[in-house]
Amino acid sequence: MTTRSDVRPASATEVLPSSLPPRRHVLDLDDYSIEEIELVMQTTDAMGEVLRRSIRKVPTLQGKTVVTLFYEPSTRTRVSFEQAGKVLSADVINLSIASSSVEKGESLLNTARTLEATQADVIIIRHGASGAPNFLARCIEGSVINAGDGAHAHPTQALLDLYTLRQRLGSIEGAKVAIVGDVLHSRVARSNLWGLAAAGAQVVLCGPPTLLPMDWLRDQHLQGRLASISVTTSINDALDGADAVMTLRLQKERQQDGLIPSLREYARSYQINADRLKLAKTGAPVMHPGPMNEGVEISSEVAHGAASVIEAQVANGVAVRMAVLYLLATGRGEE
Ligand code: NCD
Repeated sequence: MTTRSDVRPASATEVLPSSLPPRRHVLDLDDYSIEEIELVMQTTDAMGEVLRRSIRKVPTLQGKTVVTLFYEPSTRTRVSFEQAGKVLSADVINLSIASSSVEKGESLLNTARTLEATQADVIIIRHGASGAPNFLARCIEGSVINAGDGAHAHPTQALLDLYTLRQRLGSIEGAKVAIVGDVLHSRVARSNLWGLAAAGAQVVLCGPPTLLPMDWLRDQHLQGRLASISVTTSINDALDGADAVMTLRLQKERQQDGLIPSLREYARSYQINADRLKLAKTGAPVMHPGPMNEGVEISSEVAHGAASVIEAQVANGVAVRMAVLYLLATGRGEE
């Protein structure tokens, strides 16, 4: 028989305030308050406890169907959502759709209708087109989690990055976080900006001028947060005294001709390597969302060295995604 205490990981009950509005979708972090981020962090702590048990299974989402709908390749994100759903006892269905067979818009609507008929409770979508998850959220009854859309957003990656930073730094407030690399194409950087700004970090975006999204940074939408964001093309300025370094993948598949002179030149100017890392505070954690181009945006020495928290990011990904799934279920009053 299932008791209440089995269903909820012990400490999650203590962190659920009634004041937060119920959440139906997780599309980006721009609509997350610091209180809601804190709630996700504390719930992740509780989920981490579940993952450390000898039997890693709780019946929280029993009878719920979670569908992963990936129009773009992914290893760690899809697998960690699948694992998160399974630990919480949801039925997890993986739909992998080759991007070549997708006619954007119409075929997504058709897929949404099919999914609607299967009564999926949560759909986790990754799509090459920015805004696809928002479109899906308008079409279906269930919850939608954005697992990365175009260059727009990747909220669960940003939440796991925040969680990892909190583990390493204690508090993020006032911390200088350098985000270095292909910011232009990075949904990870965009979602992290919202989360880090809400958490009170001082964010420095750094990359070659052609890979910095200056138009987006001028967007009215972001203006309220700009006090905590600065932009530089100088890697030395970005790393100087940084409390943490977030390295971004050079998204070769999204490069248009001429944005960077060559991979070698990019590595020479912007690679996070042991020498450059000396500019950051001693022990500053180095992050990377994966997959890495070792030898391009990050040296192998740093990627696998003492400062690297890249494996912790992957491990935290499961607990964070469990927290997000759990909070959606409880937020909708469907525990
Ligand atoms: C990121 C993504 O897909 O946006 N990776 C991930 O989710 N693990 C980052 C990237 O592809 O560069």
